Amino acid sequence: MRVLITAGPTYEPIDPVRFIGNHSTGKMGYALAEAFAETGAHVTLISGPTQLTVQHAAIQKVEVETADQMFAAATAAAPEADIWVFAAAVADYKPRHVAENKIKKAGDTLTLELVKNVDIAATLGRTKRPEQFSVGFALETINEEAHAREKLERKNFDLIVLNSLRDNGAGFRHDTNKVTLLEAGGQMSIFELKPKAEVARDIVRTVLARLHPDA
Ligand code: CTP
Repeated sequence: MRVLITAGPTYEPIDPVRFIGNHSTGKMGYALAEAFAETGAHVTLISGPTQLTVQHAAIQKVEVETADQMFAAATAAAPEADIWVFAAAVADYKPRHVAENKIKKAGDTLTLELVKNVDIAATLGRTKRPEQFSVGFALETINEEAHAREKLERKNFDLIVLNSLRDNGAGFRHDTNKVTLLEAGGQMSIFELKPKAEVARDIVRTVLARLHPDA
């Protein structure tokens, strides 16, 4: 079994010393990499900048910074992978121009023009073969289930992991998470707040049960 996982934030450069980023720590993606490796899978972990290190020898880590680099690495690994997991918090936009030199302060305001980044999950989703399985994440604040279901269809996921920001201890920067799994077949499973390592094992169990219903 081969698994492709994207994890962590992306950094979109503004000039040689500045970037646009976000608070993703990569913990959920790294926990999934370990949980899949524990089942004997070979994992390619495509990671934006994080403080984390991988433990299991079956995890091959590919370090990237920008969404474009993450897309290139994911595109290279996707055809060979049986399972895709898109856990990265990809920046939705990047600066249209990257200044060659450090931007000097001038005037009271500064306007940056941003352009949309490639949607890695949606673009690869259009190339998914019937035997491949794709997992996405959604972080919603209102109409959570409806928005997550819409994302599941739009990005051709087989399963989407919904994190609610309304739950204490869930989401960014926490070691715990509370998730609801929504599947393309309509199934919904609600899990308790628990450590991310255990959440990862719940997700892995659900994916493997769908891929090998008779095992
Ligand atoms: N994703 C991705 N590439 C992007 C943006 C998102 O691969 N450029 C993936 C994420 O890794 C996640 C899923 O898509 O698995 C949902 O991301 P999210 O940012 O919540 O969805 P959007 O489509 O950007 O919707 P919105 O920001 O409007 O909620």
